[in-house]
Amino acid sequence: MKVAVLGAAGGIGQALSLLLKLNLPAGTDLALYDLAPVTPGVAVDLSHIPTAVKITGFGKEDLDKALIGADIVMIPAGMPRKPGMDRSDLFNINAGVVKTLAEAIVVNCPKALVGVITNPVNTTVAIAAEVFKKAGTYDPKRLFGVTTLDVIRAETFVAELKGKNPEEIIVPVIGGHSGTTILPLLSQVKDVAFTDEEVSSLTYRIQNAGTEVVEAKAGGGSATLSMGQAAARFCVSLIKGLQGEKVTEYAYVEGQGEHARFFAQPIVLGKNGVEALLPIGELSAYEQKAMNDMLGTLKADITLGEEFVANAN
Ligand SMILES: NC(=O)c1ccc[n+]([C@@H]2O[C@H](COP(=O)([O-])OP(=O)(O)OC[C@H]3O[C@@H](n4cnc5c(N)ncnc54)[C@H](O)[C@@H]3O)[C@@H](O)[C@H]2O)c1
Repeated sequence: MKVAVLGAAGGIGQALSLLLKLNLPAGTDLALYDLAPVTPGVAVDLSHIPTAVKITGFGKEDLDKALIGADIVMIPAGMPRKPGMDRSDLFNINAGVVKTLAEAIVVNCPKALVGVITNPVNTTVAIAAEVFKKAGTYDPKRLFGVTTLDVIRAETFVAELKGKNPEEIIVPVIGGHSGTTILPLLSQVKDVAFTDEEVSSLTYRIQNAGTEVVEAKAGGGSATLSMGQAAARFCVSLIKGLQGEKVTEYAYVEGQGEHARFFAQPIVLGKNGVEALLPIGELSAYEQKAMNDMLGTLKADITLGEEFVANAN
């Protein structure tokens, strides 16, 4: 098994690579790629941790070598937010980054499972899909926008509010990955009741949790450590799926297009990526309204990505 991390020297990339060095199955090859000159050093540093995961660093010129034969590619490459920025403000820089990396995936590992972390996820996943489609390699079962951070945040905040163990709370989060497109389904949390006031304040906090970190870091970036953990969890679930285990996760995928072309929903992972799309279940009146209200934004974000690739040469 080979896992490649693109953007491996960044805040998320380093945390993710550390967790993968610790948690991937013995014998896995872990390839770290980044434009930053420090990348080979990050790999050497991590290589001193005594686990049976073989780690190799690849510099700027070696994207193809990092990707060749990869079974899974995780992409945290690109600019993070600063205070006052919306995720969509990152589009101008990150759209091109994801397009370039997706084009290299087409050439080197077209069958890899690809997890896109780079923001704005609502749009960058559409960009990767369109690049793959243009090349004739697109398989919707193999492309994921990583929204695991929204799920773990929701579980943490609910547990905090209700005095529960966060490891025992499950909160479905559907839709997209920015602002109101992030829709936690608090009505589906088992054995926990919320007042209307709690539903609206928790929903707001989950939707704005990224901004909470951006403001606390005061110009030093956005979530990296919690995101590293979220991405590592998702990557390990992808591996388990490839190994034949059936694992349920939430991710932003191209499903049946009932709500929008791409939509974060529960999925079962298996040997070919998405093995089954699970229903989102029943929504409360509050959640149904929130979903109706945000679909326009989500669809516009997706169209932006589709048009970016269509208009590129
Ligand atoms: N999906 C999520 O839930 C989520 C959460 C937090 C952050 N993010 C996003 O993840 C991305 C990375 O965040 P970060 O905090 O790690 O940023 P960072 O600036 O610390 O790291 C980004 C890294 O990407 C590298 N990079 C840039 N262009 C590249 C390219 N073409 N090829 C390879 N590497 C390239 C940079 O050299 C840098 O090392 C941002 O877009 C951020 O908005 C997503």
